[in-house]
Amino acid sequence: MSALFSPITLQGLTLANRIVVSPMCQYSAEDGSATDWHLAHLGTLSASGAGLLVVEATAVEREGRISHGDLGLYDDANEEALARILAHCRTHGTARLGIQISHAGRKASAQKPWEGGRALSEDGNPWTTFAPTALAFGEGWHVPREMDQTDLERVNAAHVGAARRAERLGFDMLEIHAAHGYLLHQFLSPIANQRRDAYGGSAENRMRYPLEVVRAVRAVWPKDRPLGLRITGRDWVEGGIEPEDAVAFASQLKDEGVDFVCVTSGGVVTNAVPKIGPGYQVAFAEQVKRETGLPTRAVGLVATPRQADAIISEGKADMVALARAFLDNPHWGWSAARSLGAEIERPVQYGRAADRHWPGAAYAMHY
Ligand SMILES: Cc1cc2nc3c(=O)[nH]c(=O)nc-3n(C[C@H](O)[C@H](O)[C@H](O)COP(=O)(O)O)c2cc1C
Repeated sequence: MSALFSPITLQGLTLANRIVVSPMCQYSAEDGSATDWHLAHLGTLSASGAGLLVVEATAVEREGRISHGDLGLYDDANEEALARILAHCRTHGTARLGIQISHAGRKASAQKPWEGGRALSEDGNPWTTFAPTALAFGEGWHVPREMDQTDLERVNAAHVGAARRAERLGFDMLEIHAAHGYLLHQFLSPIANQRRDAYGGSAENRMRYPLEVVRAVRAVWPKDRPLGLRITGRDWVEGGIEPEDAVAFASQLKDEGVDFVCVTSGGVVTNAVPKIGPGYQVAFAEQVKRETGLPTRAVGLVATPRQADAIISEGKADMVALARAFLDNPHWGWSAARSLGAEIERPVQYGRAADRHWPGAAYAMHY
């Protein structure tokens, strides 16, 4: 059996394989509530062959959205809208369902990518942004308000509130976003966090707020459902986070009862210079796994089934997340199963494309 198609168990959750649909913002929500776009998008990806589908970065409070189109879990309407999508995914899909909760901090109040992706101007209905320090993400970005104690408590409680809603919705897995330059990453990175209080300065201080949030969420998120974090392996800027900082953070997360981390990189400033190539972030996941023993998920420019399979079989990570490969081929997991000789569960409606029913399968693999 291929390593990629072997099952994995995290707490009370067993995934049929190691393939994960990476969280992907769709910027298609209305005041945080999922729309028909999500029904089609998540409906399709829940039947993609991946063992786990992670719903996009979902804002824990309205001001934590990147754009006006971000998904949220801050009110009852948001929860109801997601319930409809999940019911569809559970009826027709095969993947288990996770969600990523997030707060954009100083990267909030921005245009949707296809409208420019810059900070919202006055005519775009902008809002006040919050961050550890009143430093803009880059030129032309909003200068955030430095978070005071009340802000810290409110945003912590908002993470807990979103986690409770995710639990009620029956999500199998919860993931806290602490990467890509969003709020918790802003606290971790010396580039974005220049506070002089207990939340800034030393590595221990910079980790304090993210760890408080994790502790509060872990206290309400059921122990039998995995809790993970997306963390950064490198800021790609001098003086920023390096892999050894990711190891130190992951080892604290392990002590807090976190079940896995997904190691990504970049996004904390506009002038970072990442070295991008096939599987360019896998080494970060590998180092975190080796040095902490925490299960890891690798991500970033993984496109082919053999590449993904090798990451697992060589012990570099426990799961592999793919984003753009699934946008390109929403049945990537089926194609991977065909290439690696694995069986895959499909919705009954699409059963006739299975190898045993479709002679075309033999040559579809080689196109
Ligand atoms: C359309 C799109 C939306 C994304 N949204 C998110 C997100 O909501 N949360 C997140 O952590 N990463 C997000 N990402 C990053 C991906 O999850 C992934 O880490 C990145 O694209 C690298 O993987 P890939 O090479 O397989 O695409 C997004 C990527 C894309 C392409």
